[in-house]
Amino acid sequence: MSQKKLDEPGLKNVSEFPIGTAVNINRLINDDALMSLQILNFNSITATSDMKMQSILPAENQFNWKKSDTILYYAKKHNQRVFGHNLIWHSSTPKWVEEKGNKDSLWLGEFMKDYIHKYVGRYKGKVAGWDVVNEAFESKGGAYRKTFWYNNLGKEYIANAFRYAHEADPDAVLFYNDFNIERDTLKLQAVLNMVKDFKKEGVPIHGIGFQMHIRMDTPDEVIAYSLKKAAETGLQIHLSEVDIIFNSHNDERLGGIENYSSITDEMKLAQEEKYKNLVLMYRRIVPKEQQFGITVWDFTDRDSWIKGFFNMKDWPTIYDEDLKPKPAYNGFLEGLKEKTKKK
Ligand code: G3I
Repeated sequence: MSQKKLDEPGLKNVSEFPIGTAVNINRLINDDALMSLQILNFNSITATSDMKMQSILPAENQFNWKKSDTILYYAKKHNQRVFGHNLIWHSSTPKWVEEKGNKDSLWLGEFMKDYIHKYVGRYKGKVAGWDVVNEAFESKGGAYRKTFWYNNLGKEYIANAFRYAHEADPDAVLFYNDFNIERDTLKLQAVLNMVKDFKKEGVPIHGIGFQMHIRMDTPDEVIAYSLKKAAETGLQIHLSEVDIIFNSHNDERLGGIENYSSITDEMKLAQEEKYKNLVLMYRRIVPKEQQFGITVWDFTDRDSWIKGFFNMKDWPTIYDEDLKPKPAYNGFLEGLKEKTKKK
């Protein structure tokens, strides 16, 4: 592997909690420059897509462990924590499951149990934590999303998914993961109500994942408020998919609103500040024992999902298109290094 000389000290080396990134494993292991940066900075790894149901079980009875096994192998080799993303998500449910499940909800309930048992069981003791259910609430407001899973199994599917995952690996840290909960207080409240109900009913939930796909104009005060409310549950808090964009969108595929088509030095510095503040808020507001870690969603502007998904230009991550560290990288680093009062 050609080793590049780097000035960056490595985010993981200055952090008290794990620093993660999401990756596409094939892209990572076939790109030496990307891999050097990944190894330098991160001690936790999440799959952007490779561990979703669509990838693990694309056809009936055809489990495909190739990529997930590769991720585990890579993580072990480089001493990184593996975080499992995700077990149940409407957007990654294979067509064949939908077709069968829509005809037979009893089958679907059994299928979900079996899938989670097999999958979590296979990686028992090796995958540290899981996003058990992803995005079960509407993009805005507090209503349950009327997904295939909800429509066929009712909201109980969420609690059951947590129960099955816990049965398969009692030591895995189990998360509910969603977006917009750092900025939409109604949506956050709905998640917190669910957590409260779960605790009352003894449903094994251990953490809340804030995806944290934020924008430059997402107010820091609102983020701080949301982190504080979530931390009050006593659960682990994971910033699970961090990126920060300049442009806007309507939360839908191809729904980008491109106000900026190029980035200025001033914008880069503003993003540096925003990254720094986010890391500092996490460190100041979330008690140490609840800091599961901060994970960025891809770590280069070249690879970020934003452009393709929203169909707009943007500069969401800490490395630029040429894999050079941006001021945002420095902001992240400074946020980790700055002295904070001990909790
Ligand atoms: O692997 C196939 C490849 O074989 C095929 O040729 C190609 C053609 O379309 O598709 C490839 O799969 C793509 C996959 O990413 C791997 O790159 C899928 O089409 C594409 O839809 C998929 O997108 C991912 C998306 O989730 C849907 O699973 C993004 O990479 C990933 O960043 C995104 O991540 C989500 C989180 O899971 C949940 N929160 C929001 C976040 C961003 O949308």
